[in-house]
Amino acid sequence: MTDEIVVIEGDGIGREVVPAAVDVLESLDVDFEFVAAEAGDATRDATGEALPDETYDLVADADATLFGAAGETAADVILPLREAVDSFVNVRPAKAFPSVDALRPETDVVFLRENTEGVYSGHEDRLSEGLSTLTRVVTSSASRELAEYACDFVEEGRGPAGNPDEGFTIAHKANVMRETDGRFRDEVAAVADERGVDADEELMDAFATKLPLDPGQYGVVVCPNLAGDVLSDLAAGLVGGLGLLPSANVGHDNGLFEPVHGTAPDIAGEGVANPTAAVLSAAMLLEYLGHVDEGQRVRDAVEGVLSDGPRTGDLGGSATTDEVTAAIVDRL
Ligand code: NAI
Ligand code: MG
Repeated sequence: MTDEIVVIEGDGIGREVVPAAVDVLESLDVDFEFVAAEAGDATRDATGEALPDETYDLVADADATLFGAAGETAADVILPLREAVDSFVNVRPAKAFPSVDALRPETDVVFLRENTEGVYSGHEDRLSEGLSTLTRVVTSSASRELAEYACDFVEEGRGPAGNPDEGFTIAHKANVMRETDGRFRDEVAAVADERGVDADEELMDAFATKLPLDPGQYGVVVCPNLAGDVLSDLAAGLVGGLGLLPSANVGHDNGLFEPVHGTAPDIAGEGVANPTAAVLSAAMLLEYLGHVDEGQRVRDAVEGVLSDGPRTGDLGGSATTDEVTAAIVDRL
């Protein structure tokens, strides 16, 4: 059966790295139909809307979406798109590659971040001049759904190789946010217990110190929305930068796959962006749609090129996006 993949390049280097990822997908033996859609700053300038209804509907009806990045309209685009694919978990692997300089080369961590609620659920109010509030939402159902996914994830061996004790770590701040993070921690721990999966816990502030000091002790980390956003970016800094990191917004029968980086206005238009993060996002898309072997082939090709070159400027090389992409496709 042909899977329909919506492709949204967005702004800036999204217009360079997403075509690279599509080139890689097109070089494989998979039956995909690509449908281009528009979103982002340029779309807003042209149409008045950063995320046209047509794009939202295409994404909601597709099998998966490959997204680049949007500029200042990022929140107007990405938050509704995560909702369009009904995403309940944001999967963010942070792995150092042997051939790339990294602050902490032993880092190999996957963050499973709650993707719908917490402090990102959009309930902010200005009560008066000088007083604003935010309502933090934590439901048992979303916490348990994330926990079930985390249990599947470790049981299926999708965590980092050598994941300590094959379980996961819950990062939270339930000592202060007793009701909301308390509920999150209790529900996730209860599901792990029911499923016979080892789950230990860390207070997220202490975790933010322990992770950079000794990343080797962590494998899969399960956390609330904001904590996952911040801690996974911290991990990105340990492994050598934004040009390398993919992510997946996983829903029930849909998903949106995107590099962690933004539009990189400082290099946009020069054709020198590192396509690795976008190509690895495409590998996650392949795996999500069941093309596990093809996903692994893409990972192997990327790793080969990272090790033997050519490399883009962010990794100390001088190759263009197209040269790196061609080298990946060549290996495939
Ligand atoms: P950024 O990720 O765009 O860039 C940060 C730094 O990393 C820059 O020096 C950039 O050149 C470099 N970089 C990023 N990706 C790279 C790649 N593939 N190859 C080589 N170098 C790379 O983050 P920044 O500068 O904070 O944000 C720029 C714009 O992107 C903002 O308008 C922001 O709103 C948007 N943004 C959008 C996101 C999304 O659509 N999901 C996520 C993050 C930022
Ligand atoms: Mg972020």
